[in-house]
Amino acid sequence: MANPFTLGVASGEPMPDGVVLWTRLAVDPLSADPARPGGMAQRAVEVRWQLAEDDRFTQGLRQGVVQAQPAWAHSVHVRVAGLKPGADYFYRFRAGDELSPAGRTRTSDDPAAARPVRFAIANCQRFEHGFYTAYRHLADERPDVVFHVGDYIYESRQAATVVRPLGPVPGEITKLHEYRLRHARYKTDADLQAAHAAAPWVTTWDDHEVADNYRGRGDGSAAFLRRRAAAYQAYYEHQPLRVRPRDGNLQMYRRRTYGLVADFMVLDARQHRDAGTMLGAAQEEWLMSRLLTSPVRWRVLVQPLFFARRFVPGPAPNLRPDSWDGHQAERARILAANAPGLVVFSGDVHNFWAGELKADFLDPASATVGVEFVGSSISSRPPQTDGPAVLAANPHLTFFDDRRGYMSCVASPEELRVAFRAVDFVDRKGSPVRTIAEFLTEGSGLTSENASSK
Ligand SMILES: [Fe+2]
Repeated sequence: MANPFTLGVASGEPMPDGVVLWTRLAVDPLSADPARPGGMAQRAVEVRWQLAEDDRFTQGLRQGVVQAQPAWAHSVHVRVAGLKPGADYFYRFRAGDELSPAGRTRTSDDPAAARPVRFAIANCQRFEHGFYTAYRHLADERPDVVFHVGDYIYESRQAATVVRPLGPVPGEITKLHEYRLRHARYKTDADLQAAHAAAPWVTTWDDHEVADNYRGRGDGSAAFLRRRAAAYQAYYEHQPLRVRPRDGNLQMYRRRTYGLVADFMVLDARQHRDAGTMLGAAQEEWLMSRLLTSPVRWRVLVQPLFFARRFVPGPAPNLRPDSWDGHQAERARILAANAPGLVVFSGDVHNFWAGELKADFLDPASATVGVEFVGSSISSRPPQTDGPAVLAANPHLTFFDDRRGYMSCVASPEELRVAFRAVDFVDRKGSPVRTIAEFLTEGSGLTSENASSK
């Protein structure tokens, strides 16, 4: 067998005592043959995994054997338990004579711990729009955990102008083998592989993992539900998730807690949507009860869509209906919980924004009930946005920048720090990264340090 580790390795879903290890065997990752995804024959392949406390695999070695099944595109999801909290580990795989690169992962903190948590947040990585240099810099930071808030792939047909081509099947994708191929194309990127190998990831999705601006069950047709099930399956096959899709659904909303410091509530803003709600009743009930009862310092919503009101003035003034501005009553219920230490992280709009969450967005004098940080895209092109005009029309929004990048954060019992990290260009490799703004909150409002708004 040729080297099957062409898509890299990953880990995710950190708990105080365990993580999930991931890889997918693909000897020919861009094979467009639906009968041989990744160029693999339709039979199971034995994969050995190893995890240790050091990168030479000598301390505390654990290992096991799993079968990579063709029904799951030869992906492997190993749930390792019995680990120490707040500890680094290293892992790798072997199939036949081939050894994978090693990854570094980390368990979450002991429930009683109060140590600071270092985390990064990324989103929106349209492959043909640019290089993933931002991920190379993110990998160098080796955070405790990386969150991804959606548009991990784009299902759309290849853009008219490309920095690098999608390769085979450049059209809009709708079938399982096409979603697999699109994920594989993205995963062949060495910088993305480096970011996965540097830290455990916790991901949620937005719309483009399935279809542009889709909601829940779409039009309810069998064709759409087949398409969604195919997209969800391919998503699972390419992420280090703890749970598998079942009957065309995939449980995504969940909580990842770091000691007494940060409760990350990862939301699913797509699967349970309908005309009336963004989250659906069950997810909203789960979220509200945790917001009200969490004993943890920072209650952090990790989700794809701009949360604060964002009125865009101009010839066609508007509020974006696909975002939380299209679900104002639901947003008001979340804010009315008055959860202490409320922080929202978002993506979707392909620029950086920061602002305060208000009890009443139309009354600047009303109480500040939280803060929001919107991360720019890793590579996806930004829309034309008159940032200064939008800031002027929304006094609770305080920062805008239209460079590509990610967010690098530290949460401690005293404060939360968020750095906006931007690259200068994505149309070729090798951009440096710089901190373009840094924000500090102690839980009531937002202070910016070294901010250089354009
Ligand atoms: Fe996007």
